[in-house]
Amino acid sequence: MTARTTRELTPEDAEEAGALLARGGLVAFPTETVYGLGADAGNAAAVASLYGAKGRPSFNPLIAHVPSVVEARTVAVFDVDAERLAAAFWPGPLTLVLPAASGCPVCELARSGLETVAVRAPDHPIAEAILRAAGRPIVAPSANRSGRVSPTTADHVLTDLDGLIDAVLDGGATRVGLESTIVACLGGAATLLRPGGVPREAIEAALGRALALPAEDEHAPASPGRLASHYAPAAALRLDAAAPAAGEAWLGFGPDDVTDGVRDTLSASGDLAEAAARLFTTLRSLDATGVARIAVAPIPVGGLGDAIRDRLKRAAAPRG
Ligand code: TXA
Ligand code: MG
Repeated sequence: MTARTTRELTPEDAEEAGALLARGGLVAFPTETVYGLGADAGNAAAVASLYGAKGRPSFNPLIAHVPSVVEARTVAVFDVDAERLAAAFWPGPLTLVLPAASGCPVCELARSGLETVAVRAPDHPIAEAILRAAGRPIVAPSANRSGRVSPTTADHVLTDLDGLIDAVLDGGATRVGLESTIVACLGGAATLLRPGGVPREAIEAALGRALALPAEDEHAPASPGRLASHYAPAAALRLDAAAPAAGEAWLGFGPDDVTDGVRDTLSASGDLAEAAARLFTTLRSLDATGVARIAVAPIPVGGLGDAIRDRLKRAAAPRG
């Protein structure tokens, strides 16, 4: 194995990580959802190198990360719904898509030229320390090569991006395990663009009414990054399976009663939060065995089950 060339930082190095970002570096860091690959949101050269490291199509805009709603107000315009959601869920796994503020510090490239901007305040002490040290909004997509499974450990980040980024700060495994929920508040009804770490039911309770859903249109997705095939392991996936077929690995949910072959369970106790936290790690480790196909047990609808089902559906989609 060749030596790693990306610097590995520890939580004590949060200040240094922030300073590196402020100088235009690419630094991966933990959030409560997944590891993000950070760059200075206002530095188009840094953002361009971020797209390059990820191999990400540049029509896919990025989320600006800020320490709190105070900094978010310099980035975006909050309507009544947005205020309510930020008060209820920030810091936390909710991203708001809002009209960009005048003088928005997030560069055009990071916004893909849109008049709107995605912003969130992550609930993680290391992320907060880095954002405060950087002293500016930091764009951070999940720290994986584009189209691959999102990283929930520093090791996952290095597997995909070693040598392509300046540093990774190792803060251990992430708590939520899948990405933030994305809600657009753009004047009309608040719209759910991506299910994620905050269940839809909790958002609707905070708003006092139902979220709108975008029309599913593959060619003009409301959230441009929501291409059908995403989070893709090398193995094929077969969803809502009752049991593994010959030659398939098994990814269960609930008590693990399959005894032969390559197998794992997302949560032996059938707990959705545990299943979300383990989803990407178990997908990676089953995939690493080299199996051709993974059969996946049915995941319940509702709560975090919706975000898990969404990620599995994308991981199972035909590859473009
Ligand atoms: O939990 C998360 O959100 C993680 C951590 C690192 O914070 N980040 C993350 O970023 O998942 P990324 O880049 O993998 O996903 C961002 C999503 C994309 O689907 C993108 O299209 C959407 O946000 N997005 C960004 N700006 C948008 C905008 N102005 N309008 C609609 N969708 C937008
Ligand atoms: Mg991603």
